[in-house]
Amino acid sequence: MTDDGPILVTGAAGQLGAVGRTVCGLLLDRGLPVRAMVRREDDRAAALRALGAEVVVGDLLEPPDVYRVVSGCRRVYFSMSASAGYLEATLTMAVVAREVGVDGLVNMSQMTVSEMSTQNTTSSGQQRQHWLSEQALAWSGLPVVTIRPTMFLESFFPLAAPTVGARGRIEVPFGRGKTSPVAAADVARVVAAVLADPGPHLGQIYELTGPRSQDMHGVAREFSDALNREVTYSDISAEDWERGLKQAGFSEHLTRHLVTMAELHRAGRYDRLTDGVERLTGRPAISVREFVSLHADKFGGRRS
Ligand SMILES: NC(=O)c1ccc[n+]([C@@H]2O[C@H](COP(=O)([O-])OP(=O)(O)OC[C@H]3O[C@@H](n4cnc5c(N)ncnc54)[C@H](OP(=O)(O)O)[C@@H]3O)[C@@H](O)[C@H]2O)c1
Repeated sequence: MTDDGPILVTGAAGQLGAVGRTVCGLLLDRGLPVRAMVRREDDRAAALRALGAEVVVGDLLEPPDVYRVVSGCRRVYFSMSASAGYLEATLTMAVVAREVGVDGLVNMSQMTVSEMSTQNTTSSGQQRQHWLSEQALAWSGLPVVTIRPTMFLESFFPLAAPTVGARGRIEVPFGRGKTSPVAAADVARVVAAVLADPGPHLGQIYELTGPRSQDMHGVAREFSDALNREVTYSDISAEDWERGLKQAGFSEHLTRHLVTMAELHRAGRYDRLTDGVERLTGRPAISVREFVSLHADKFGGRRS
């Protein structure tokens, strides 16, 4: 391990939540050196370089790439987009981090893992892989900190923005289940705080939610307030939703995950509330209304 080496941030280009990209900026703001791992040279890589990060290209499923990018780093934020190879990538990172030596590895997981066991898994391959990954990392003996957020508010971009923009409706099969989505930017603030000084956090599991747990009618009311026009919730059938996800081009892995997430919402399993964001960063998590106000253009704009 290199004591004054950079902090490695994987998945740094950002696709959905872009937690890694935000973490890079927050660490650089603190004056900490950052190595940002991306999959390819593109505008997002150039933007990270312009911020002051050392940008490295590699594939988290290729052990030599992972060895190259971890070497010389003192600690790691490990995350990548939800995909079928997640467990393999985690194990590859664990093997390399053990070989190279790091003083902290912050692992992105999911809140659902807190309710999973050998007798109670879910049908989402992504959730199962996070559950297995957490255990493998615990066995590894690495200095791990686990981040378990609930659904990101950014998930509303692909799942709700088209229908909110077109007809003022959030159409998801969440039934009457409550939910407490958290902004990826808030998750990133937690990750950055831990990476800056991992010592006190080693071995901890941080569960992160937004500031309110409410049903989708409540969520829709916050959309209405933010956009100054009526937004309602339509509880569509799970079958229609699955068909729509496939038509929209979601992978089989992601479709299965989202269908499971909806089932768990209907069963009340996303009705969770924690103060993790505020406890770790000193600032409360942002609300649905604040989030939608910030991204009003994505939801068809705010009526004046
Ligand atoms: N979305 C949610 O509601 C939610 C909730 C809780 C937890 N999570 C967890 O959060 C994580 C995703 O975080 P995020 O939304 O911040 O990520 P993200 O914005 O989707 O970005 C992840 C990055 O990973 C990169 N990547 C994918 N496969 C790779 C590979 N084989 N090698 C190297 N890089 C690779 C992608 O690169 P390219 O863009 O170039 O493809 C992408 O930029 C997942 O673990 C997910 O389970 C998500």
